[in-house]
Amino acid sequence: MTDVATTSIHDDVSEILLGEEEIRQRVGELGRELVERYADRDPVLVSVLKGSLVFLADLMRSMEMPVSIDLMEVSSYGAGTESSGQVRIIKDLSQPIEGRHVIVVEDIIDTGLTLNYLLKYLADKGPASVSIVCLLDKPARRLAEIPIDHVGFTIPDRFVIGYGLDYDERYRNLPYVGVLKPSVYGGAEPVE
Ligand code: IMP
Repeated sequence: MTDVATTSIHDDVSEILLGEEEIRQRVGELGRELVERYADRDPVLVSVLKGSLVFLADLMRSMEMPVSIDLMEVSSYGAGTESSGQVRIIKDLSQPIEGRHVIVVEDIIDTGLTLNYLLKYLADKGPASVSIVCLLDKPARRLAEIPIDHVGFTIPDRFVIGYGLDYDERYRNLPYVGVLKPSVYGGAEPVE
């Protein structure tokens, strides 16, 4: 039997890319940018589960203004680290967004295929405007051009976990953004 006390989620992290304090500060800045931009516009934050959950929770608390939130869940990745390119809506919006100012809150934009699909889907619902805030931008593998309005951090092409991001549904509860050891998903360690 596995000894839970000695099994640490930190063991599978090869490197901490963004520490807790760095993330906290940047999310605070993003919140202030949004407050300035959306003053008196009663925006709705539309977040994409599950990876954006932690970011949304911190971002909305850094916005000292009236906001509402809605949650969608889409799936683009299976249990691996590569995008399938196929997007499936698992959970839809719970309120109409017609005439509303929508802020899409995303954890990470990699190929951009997920958001590309989602933006078209949301546009069909007649919002007054749609903007995008993402915590992490991984531009190296972009396949669809995405107009990102607010970016937390631009990161290199590494598979990252933590602060909501998973590998095979694990590691979302890490308080920082770390790089997953390639040995965990059967990849080779990079040569330094
Ligand atoms: P895209 O469609 O390739 O832009 O992928 C978007 C989604 O893939 C994100 O919302 C994440 O859920 C997932 N994803 C992309 N890169 C990573 C990563 O490095 N770690 C964990 N999940 C990722």
